[in-house]
Amino acid sequence: MKNERELLMIPGPTIVSPRVLRALAKPILSHVSNEFVEGYAEALSLQKKLFGTDGTPFLLAGSGTLGMEAAIANLMERGDKVLCVENGYFGEKWEEIVETHGGEVDRVRFEWGDAVDVNMVKEKLGSNEYKLFTVEHVDTSTGIANDLKKIGELRKNTDALYVVDSVCGIGGMPLKMDEWNIDYCLTGSQKALGAPPGISLFCLNDKAWQTVEKRKSPPSDYYVNLKRWKPIMDSPKGYFATPATGLVLGILESLRIIFEEGLETRWKRHEVFSKAFQAGIKALGWGNFPAEGHNAHTLTVPKIPEGVDDAKMRTTMYQKYGVIIAGGLGKLGGKTVRVGHMGNDTMNDLVATLGAMEMSLAEMGHVDELGKAVGAMMKVFTKY
Ligand SMILES: Cc1ncc(COP(=O)(O)O)c(C=O)c1O
Repeated sequence: MKNERELLMIPGPTIVSPRVLRALAKPILSHVSNEFVEGYAEALSLQKKLFGTDGTPFLLAGSGTLGMEAAIANLMERGDKVLCVENGYFGEKWEEIVETHGGEVDRVRFEWGDAVDVNMVKEKLGSNEYKLFTVEHVDTSTGIANDLKKIGELRKNTDALYVVDSVCGIGGMPLKMDEWNIDYCLTGSQKALGAPPGISLFCLNDKAWQTVEKRKSPPSDYYVNLKRWKPIMDSPKGYFATPATGLVLGILESLRIIFEEGLETRWKRHEVFSKAFQAGIKALGWGNFPAEGHNAHTLTVPKIPEGVDDAKMRTTMYQKYGVIIAGGLGKLGGKTVRVGHMGNDTMNDLVATLGAMEMSLAEMGHVDELGKAVGAMMKVFTKY
């Protein structure tokens, strides 16, 4: 019999709160009804607050990748040079998007799991005329969090636009777009915002918008041409293409939940989740993949110890305990596992997840004393 109360603890999509599910279950509204138009406007205004910007928000149907592509399609023109700052799978993904749109890729690449060396980025930025540079907030493949504020300092000495992918960060970790000199920032609905997949959220500051306005030629794309969408974002009663009405009202409910909790409180909760999970894996004797001190708060990426069959562990966790975590991504398959703890996840979800991991490992003969990992996690939670 299918368990209807599975715990979805992968690093996105994440568990969606019943409040958001109720908003999604409402009868479909007309996209020009007052109720929808007001809801869309409220979502856009909360989005600006979430990103910490006075710039222009875009909230469109699509996944996080749409926000990446919209950046490249609109900010860059054919032949422009783009610097991709890479320390994981998603950082490297920008290259393909840039090349697809006729840009010239340059890169500053670090080992997966290593922190970005800001001096190397500085040097590279000074060595060429780049239209923009891309940086991951959290690379979900490795669990690393990059220091966006420090990298943002470099923006003062370059004309290159600072483009940030915060698909796995915003809503769970601090991000202050205007204060940190970020020109374009994007996320998706299905991670730390706690909504289902399907909505892409991104913001452009004035400088980025001016770049769009001053293009020599229009983007070759029709749907992703932001100039066509801007009037709708300014006044959602207009029409360019039908908005995903249900999903917009779903994300609106998640944004309201975020601000009812309070951004600072939410960031702190994610930090505690991360510390608790770290304590748990340490008690199991497992190592942590991302470089020390650069851990994302939205997920944990432990290293699989020699002799542990992670596929078997994950199967037991799922089949016996109804808990779903993810395997390693790309070249980290079989070397790491990935546990998401973000959005509207609770302490109970984390205790259950680590408990399922510990029990599955015990069955496989890798744990001598049950409860050590969960106990270590509980010690962190009870201090919170
Ligand atoms: C850091 C990061 N960037 C971009 C993406 C791409 O987002 P999507 O799969 O929603 O298109 C993901 C997806 O997991 C991600 O984790």
